[in-house]
Amino acid sequence: MSTALPFQFLVTSLLLFLGIIYRARTGGRPPGLPPGPPGLPFLGNALQLPSKDAYKTFTKWGKQYGPIVAVKVFSQSLIIINSVKLAADLLNKSSSSTSFRITRRMVQLSGFDRSIPHLQPTTEFNKSRQYTKMALGAIEMTQYEPEHQRRALRLVIKLAQNPKNIYNEIGVWVALGFEHIAYGTDDEEDASGFVEMGRHALAIFTAASDPMIVWAVDVLPFLRHFPSWLPGMSFKRKAREWKRVLRDILNKPFHHAVRKINAGLTSQCLISRVAESHSLDSLDEDDLVILKNAAMNIYIGGFDTMTSIVASFYLAMVLHPEAQTRGQQEVDSVTGRSRLPTFADRPNLPYVDCIMKEVMRWAIPTPFLFPHVQDPTSDAMVDGVFVPRGSLLIVNTGGIFEDPKIYANPLQFWPERFHDKNLLDPLSIAFGYARRQCTGIHFVEKRLWITIATTLATLNICPPTENNSRMPKAEWTDGPVRLPLTYDAKFNVRTPALLET
Ligand code: HEM
Ligand SMILES: *[C@@H]1O[C@H](CO)[C@@H](O)[C@H](O)[C@H]1NC(C)=O
Ligand SMILES: *[C@@H]1O[C@H](CO)[C@@H](O)[C@H](O)[C@H]1NC(C)=O
Ligand SMILES: *[C@@H]1O[C@H](CO)[C@@H](O)[C@H](O)[C@H]1NC(C)=O
Repeated sequence: MSTALPFQFLVTSLLLFLGIIYRARTGGRPPGLPPGPPGLPFLGNALQLPSKDAYKTFTKWGKQYGPIVAVKVFSQSLIIINSVKLAADLLNKSSSSTSFRITRRMVQLSGFDRSIPHLQPTTEFNKSRQYTKMALGAIEMTQYEPEHQRRALRLVIKLAQNPKNIYNEIGVWVALGFEHIAYGTDDEEDASGFVEMGRHALAIFTAASDPMIVWAVDVLPFLRHFPSWLPGMSFKRKAREWKRVLRDILNKPFHHAVRKINAGLTSQCLISRVAESHSLDSLDEDDLVILKNAAMNIYIGGFDTMTSIVASFYLAMVLHPEAQTRGQQEVDSVTGRSRLPTFADRPNLPYVDCIMKEVMRWAIPTPFLFPHVQDPTSDAMVDGVFVPRGSLLIVNTGGIFEDPKIYANPLQFWPERFHDKNLLDPLSIAFGYARRQCTGIHFVEKRLWITIATTLATLNICPPTENNSRMPKAEWTDGPVRLPLTYDAKFNVRTPALLET
């Protein structure tokens, strides 16, 4: 049906198809490559690539071979980094040569290659990131504080009203929040037509980019020249359909925003800021495409990651009532239960910060970030490590967050550990590195913090049954962005007066 094949199936069928089981040359390790598990000729380590909990396998290899491990999949080198210092040296200090991305055919065919996560470090990439900064920069996010507060309150009210469908409530809330920042939509009615569209676009983006899904055309690029009616060519129809969805998500919310700006109706958003500083009419065709992609990246860039981290926070509260109680007591001591917490309270709420850091560590949505690529035209030598051109650079952040040498009892959810100011702050590495660092970082730092503080002030989050018969489990889905498995919880209001607005 689909031409997205499970990796191992693809490997086997490729071998049969090409009949080259013994092409010894390409499987060998170039001299100087960091150590790693021995592989097979031609295939390299393809059959050892984990299909589940990849970061745990990477950690195991790290214990066996050292902080930096190289594996090969066919002729592609993967460099797996299990050390904070090496990650910073490779991806931060040497960022001018390590900020490339892998090229995927389905991404190109469907048009997602002009999205920031897929752009190579070019002028277009710089422009695109500059646009997103106009809406998501540190200063903009500070100006946006009152709106963060209003939106956090909106979420707790929704969860108190409708605890049956936690994921949907959080997902819609996340989507509406990004739409507001990108396009200035005001309320659900104004924006809801785009929520489904955004989710659809994100599902497609994920399918086109997921490193664990290998499309036949990625391995056999010449297939793209075959006509789409041939058997096995359904990827071409898929790519055409995806292109249409992408065209809609790039254009419809954008034109909606422009209409509102022209009518003088929009609140501050990316499009209105650009309109003020350059005037939209002065943008040429190409700049307009870049702007539309930047807005779309804001809109769908944080859907899954943000839904994941917020859902993981509520999960942590269900499972760790002691942390919840301590957080509530801290917030109450500052607000006297007579008002909601604000960003001005932040210096007096250190435990809320501890909870935020611990949630990020315990439940990182992106356990191996989003792989960088070493400059395809030159090899590098960093801290004595040979990095072949075009290598995929994978930071095992999930493994670092579970390293007992850094975090004692790493599987334990224990916010108190962050009273130690010398402990590595998970937020300093969870969003990636240098020129490719997540453009949503300031947004997350604000929105997540106020969501945690507002929740502690207003709700009691409890297991779904008194006798704990349906206690949720601390388990997450697999994939480049992991979400907690769906769970039920009760959201009891503890300060009803604070929810009346
Ligand atoms: C908890 C929430 C989030 C986490 C953990 C997260 C994590 C990441 C990571 C690890 C990367 C790759 C960095 C690298 O390659 O070094 C990334 C990139 C990106 N993120 Fe986020 N992110 C989150 C939320 C958001 C939000 C809210 C937005 C936008 C509103 C966003 C937009 C992006 C974009 C556009 C990129 C691509 C940057 C590039 O390739 O240059 N993310 N994110
Ligand atoms: C990356 O380098 C910059 C400046 O050189 C530094 O401020 C920042 O902390 C570094 N980030 C990481 C994660 O090492
Ligand atoms: C993009 O910006 C960086 C600085 O942030 C600069 O070093 C680089 O040369 C720019 N790249 C292009 C292609 O303009
Ligand atoms: C726990 O309570 C639920 C209802 O709240 C009930 O259906 C279930 O049978 C109870 N389980 C046990 C083990 O008592």
